Order: sequence, then structure tokens, then C-alpha cells
Amino acid sequence: MHIQYMSDKNRVVIFDTTMRDGEQSPGASMSLEEKIQISRIFDELGIDVIEAGFPIASPGDFEAVTAISKILKNSIPAGLSRHTKKDIDACYESLKGAKRFRIHTFISTSALHMKHKLNKTPEEVTESIKEHVTYARKFTDDVEWSCEDGTRTDIDFMCKTVELAIKCGAKTINIPDTVGYTVPSEYTKIIKTLFNKVPNIDKAILSTHTHNDLGLAVANSLAGVSAGARQVECTINGIGERAGNAALEEIVMAMKTRPDLMPFSTGINTKLLSKASKVVSNATGFPVQFNKAIVGKNAFAHESGIHQDGMLKNRNTYEIMTPESVGVKKTSLVMGKHSGRHAFKDKLGDLGYSGITDDVIQTAFGKFKILADKKKHIYDEDIAALVDDSLIKEENVIKLKSLKVFAGTGEPQKADMTLEVYGDMKKASEIGDGPVDAIFKCIKKLYPHDVNLQLYQVHAVTEGTDAQATVSVRIEEKGKTTVGQAADTDTLVASANAYLNALNKMIIKRKKTAPPSSSSLTSSQGEQKMKGI
Ligand code: KIV
Ligand code: ZN
Repeated sequence: MHIQYMSDKNRVVIFDTTMRDGEQSPGASMSLEEKIQISRIFDELGIDVIEAGFPIASPGDFEAVTAISKILKNSIPAGLSRHTKKDIDACYESLKGAKRFRIHTFISTSALHMKHKLNKTPEEVTESIKEHVTYARKFTDDVEWSCEDGTRTDIDFMCKTVELAIKCGAKTINIPDTVGYTVPSEYTKIIKTLFNKVPNIDKAILSTHTHNDLGLAVANSLAGVSAGARQVECTINGIGERAGNAALEEIVMAMKTRPDLMPFSTGINTKLLSKASKVVSNATGFPVQFNKAIVGKNAFAHESGIHQDGMLKNRNTYEIMTPESVGVKKTSLVMGKHSGRHAFKDKLGDLGYSGITDDVIQTAFGKFKILADKKKHIYDEDIAALVDDSLIKEENVIKLKSLKVFAGTGEPQKADMTLEVYGDMKKASEIGDGPVDAIFKCIKKLYPHDVNLQLYQVHAVTEGTDAQATVSVRIEEKGKTTVGQAADTDTLVASANAYLNALNKMIIKRKKTAPPSSSSLTSSQGEQKMKGI
């Protein structure tokens, strides 16, 4: 891999850390199934290296890295480790199912972190680099080393540590702007200094890893590439610790749109960027802001009359890249109630759904027919919402069977509900502070549990009052969070299903199969992730 990339001097390696640094965003935890779904899309998207997790951090991370390592066809899986043999062993154990894999090991090098976080002297840190990079190399020749808090590290000390890491066998050297503190001119200087002062720098690829605390993550990464770095660490939608990481889609499209200034290439099939963004947003429950560059709902919308007029005369007047180039298709009226199963299946292929089971297609098709009776115009987005909804419900052990809601002025809001709970039909009726509250109370009565509702969000899938609503719900229990989603033309039905989806995921997360009557709902694994590394 390295030889191949190094021979093409303008090829930039895209290293995605959505499932590691991205998942470190508070509340962004993803289930194993969601990570597998994301990995399949990332593989197809053309990401070179996928940092699938931090294997020592939790059994869930270990399991995810193991599963992802086995399914990737083109991308190389990577796992993160601190400088301990146990961390590196966990990386190896979880990655060894892959044909090729990378171990990414890191230690802080800034005076501040060495003294206050590690309680180590610079000499001890240097010794640790020698020991752990050498140890990681026993398992693979693809070792990446990062100097955490790199941008606040004394530059002479950084040069020394980088030289040592390369000498011990690291093939990629990553310079994190851990706290999002640097600016493009400074980051350029750091990268250039490494090229000028580290004698063996030609034996490794330099990598950027920038955080967005000052809103400069993408600009800093691009500055790093212009200064000679040939790997970028980034995340879809820019999710990540605090203000996030550099957004993959922005970096890739900036290079693609301005080859006159940045003559670099990547292996990314940009037409899948929009899909990747949606899948990550669904899995994390983090909505994409409307005006987000490249993947926001309004990124290609032209509202003002002057702009629309210009666009009609010549698209180049106000469009620097086409929506199609990032996979945004014109909203199309796709199907009607007479469309058959075959056409429906073809449509799923067009929308980028591959490898879904016949059962899911059948369920989604059934829902499509029901929707077609209720809604006059069915768009691509409606179909996508139906399929996502069907994918989500595959493993639910608690299912909504019926719901009646009494809402409006004057009367107290009331919900009557029937749930199937582990095969048993159960009914409840509850009054609430609003219809959604009444619905959630019914669920709680029929399946007693104790979680915090962290997020409840409603989005319209398309325009119009008959649009489907997608509801996202995030719940938390003992530090574990799950996100549930559901779509329906009835917002209240979608709300009930979204909550149930989050609850079902919580049950799977605890790996318990018995209903609450025979076992308590307390967390068994204490799988609190190690955050704030
Ligand atoms: O921001 C950071 O320093 C990191 C390292 C672990 C690479 O995420
Ligand atoms: Zn980071």
C-alpha cells in the first residue's frame, strides 16, 4: 500500500475515523449493526483506511473492529491503541481477520500533556515510543504513530520523536491538532519543518488530523496536504470530539473542485458522499445542519430569484460543483401505487441499496403499497425512509401493534396502545402531558424500564402536509446510549416506533434475551467507553 501511494506523489490517503474519533462525540454511539452498515458503504465509497474503533476501550469496540475487519473488501481496517502492550494486543486480536490491517498507536508529546496527563518526562516518552512502535511492528508492517497534542508540542522534540518512530518502523506519522488550536499558516510550518529537519522523513507518509474547535479543521488539513502531507484523517459530516473533526466530504470536494490550487487525487467515489452522510446521520442521530457544505439539505438549493435566473441561463453562474457529483439527485417523482415489486427492487439499486435481504425488500414493498394509498406523490426520499425503517425493525423484540391517540385542545391527551412484547400481546391506556408523552408512558407501562430521553426530533422527509415524518429518539441508560429512528406519514406512529427502536437496541446492547419480568434491566457489562483520550 505505501509503496503504491508513495509512487503517486499527489495521491492523498483518506483515513476515516468516524467510528472512532467520530463516535467519541457525546451521544454518538453506534450499534454493531450500524457500524457494519457504515463500513460497507465506506468500503464502496473508496476510503483507504477505516479506523473501526479503539479495541481495548470496550467489549463493544473490540467486537465491532473484529466484525468490520472481516467484511472489508478494499479498505484497510485500523484500530487505535495507547502505548501499552495490552492495547496493541487488543488491536491485533481484533484486526487479525483482515487480509491487511493497520495498528495506530499514539502518545502525547506536548510539555503540557507529558507533565499533567502522563506524568512522564520527555525521555520516558521517547523510551515508550521505541518500545511500543517496535512492539506493534511485530504484528504488521503497517504501523501508524501519532504524537497527541502535536500542534502544541515543541517542534524540536517533535522532530526527534518522529525520527525515532520512523526508525522503529512506523510507516505513517500523524500530527494531531488534538484541541483544534492551530491555524493554516502554523500547521503548514509544522509539516514543512518535519520535511526539512527529520532525516528519514521520506520513509513515511505524513498525516493530518485536525479538530474543529475554531472552525478551521478542514482549512488546516488542506494546508497540511499543500505542505506535503499525504494522508488526511477525517470523519463523515465532521463528527467527532467536541466541535468535531475535519469533514471528509469537504476535504475531498475541495480538492476535486480546485485542482488548479490543489492538484491532489483521492480514491473516493464522490457520488456516494451524500448517501454516506445520511447513513452516519441516521446511525448517530446527529442531524446534518441544513447549510452544511456538500451534504446539507440546502447545499445545492437556489432560493433567490437572481440566483435562480442565473442558474437557468448557465449553471456555472452559481454552482461550483454539481449536486450529482456528490450523489444528490434531483428529487424525482418515482413511483405510484401501480408500480410492481420488480420496479421497486430496481429503484432500491438506483438509490444505492445493495446486499439487502429479500425479507427486508418485501417488508419495505408492503409499506410502500400502504404509503402509496395514503400519499399522492412518492419520492426517492420516501422510498429511502421506508427501507431504512425496514432495516431498523428487523430484530425488534418489542413491536407496535396498534395505536390510538386522542389529542387537541380541551381534553387531556390520551394514548391506547397494543404492543407485542417477546411474543405476548399487551395493552395499555395512558394520559400524558401531550400525545407523545402519553405514547411513551404506554410503552413504559407495557415494558417497564428506566432510561433518560436525551433527544426527540422530528423531520419531514419531503415537502407537503402529507409528507412522511422521520422521528429520531436517543435514550441513555448507565452511560450507554442508543438512537432509534422510524418513518411514517403519522408523526405519532413514527414517534412510538422510534422510541421502541431505541429501546430494542438498548436490549440488544445489554445482550439480554429475557423480558423484564424474569430479569432486571440493569446494565451487566459496565461498558463505559474510554473518552477524552
Ligand atoms: O485528536 C487526537 O489527538 C486523536 C489521536 C488519538 C490521534 O484523536
Ligand atoms: Zn482526534
